[in-house]
Amino acid sequence: MSNRIEPIRSVKGTRDLLPPDTGLWQRVEAEAHRVFAAYHYGEIRTPILEETALFARGVGTETDIVMKEMYTFRDRDEESLTLRPEATASVVRAYIEHSLYNQGGVKKLYYIGPMFRRERPQKGRYRQFYQIGAEVLGSENPLVDVDVLEMLALFLERVGIREYRLLLNSVGCPNCRAAYLEVLRSALQEVKAGMCVDCQRRADTNPLRVLDCKVEADQPIIEKLPKTIDHLDEPCHRHFERVTGELQERGLTYQVTPRLVRGLDYYTRTTFEITSGAVGAQNAVVGGGRYDGLSEMLGGPPTPGIGFSIGQDRLILAVQAAAALQAGSPLAAYIVWMGESELRPASRLVRELRAQGLSVEIDYDPMKIKKAMGVANKLGARFAVIIGEGELASGKYQVKDMASGQQQELGPVGIASYLKEKL
Ligand code: HAM
Repeated sequence: MSNRIEPIRSVKGTRDLLPPDTGLWQRVEAEAHRVFAAYHYGEIRTPILEETALFARGVGTETDIVMKEMYTFRDRDEESLTLRPEATASVVRAYIEHSLYNQGGVKKLYYIGPMFRRERPQKGRYRQFYQIGAEVLGSENPLVDVDVLEMLALFLERVGIREYRLLLNSVGCPNCRAAYLEVLRSALQEVKAGMCVDCQRRADTNPLRVLDCKVEADQPIIEKLPKTIDHLDEPCHRHFERVTGELQERGLTYQVTPRLVRGLDYYTRTTFEITSGAVGAQNAVVGGGRYDGLSEMLGGPPTPGIGFSIGQDRLILAVQAAAALQAGSPLAAYIVWMGESELRPASRLVRELRAQGLSVEIDYDPMKIKKAMGVANKLGARFAVIIGEGELASGKYQVKDMASGQQQELGPVGIASYLKEKL
């Protein structure tokens, strides 16, 4: 009988992000911080755990997310808690909880973090995935919608993604929704018998959801259903016209996509998605839109809002496909020391270089020089700094460019500025 212990693996649909990939994740996040700050957004960090009722009320009880995909459990005191499947509801909850509306003006917030949905895992679809999102609360001005889309375009450009499509639609407000739903319901009565079982149910419970059904055989039927943009009331129609007109004015390309109603119930008026061919079947990299009624649905004051979430996992796939960004900064130097008497000056140098912000590595176990140079190579160090008995005596260390093989003799004080100049 073997007594080998089975190693424990990560949970299905979750994964470890490892270096050097995490370097790329950091680059993308740094760009988000920069671009969003330029548009005057501030970062919000909300808890990963929320009361289940937040998503039931916010996202909607009839949505796939709430019906099938949430990680919900009873806490020890019987309270029902859920690992957040998205963050917009959490941001609006925080907005209400901290009375941010009292601060006057619009509130612009962004977040970066993990979300959880129990979907079938595949490339670009995970059960723990990451979003970079932004929300604007307190304005229904269509120019805000355009600013949000412009900021997204700038961010995508900054991370090197140029091949993408912006799909745009308007789902109207509750006022036009009522009229549209009636038209849609009666159209569905005619055709629902030929659709999937989920759509047959949705046709009665939540007909809008029929529009984002993914079942292949249903697609030709869905194409012919009435469109939300043909049933907007006058204010919603004008709003959409202003959004599209201003997008054209700013040279931002979009594609009106009538079926785009999005899988969450809180949307009103503008909805959008950004797709990229580079990501495979799961090609929606960004989803977003207006949610002018969400604050009230969550017990807050009437507050219009709009925002988006970028699927960071998919964004990284697209960035890798475009080979746009390089992962993390490379190792500037590997320090090679020969004998015990060189270890102290070597570690002093390491400390000084690191304090200057340079990425530096040292091994504390003694090694033959040949092996040490092999390690420097394997780690991808740009330079090796060699400190032997002779170097210690002369006060000049050997600084070797690992790519060219060229060697310089430098006093410890000059090494930091030399490396910085060369990197
Ligand atoms: P969403 O469309 O559900 O919208 O998600 C946004 C993006 O998150 C998707 O386009 C996709 O890139 C990524 N995503 C979703 N599920 C997964 C998954 N299982 N694995 C990997 N990536 C995934 C929202 O979440 C809304 N909160 C967006 C929003 C913000 N609307 C207004 N403000």
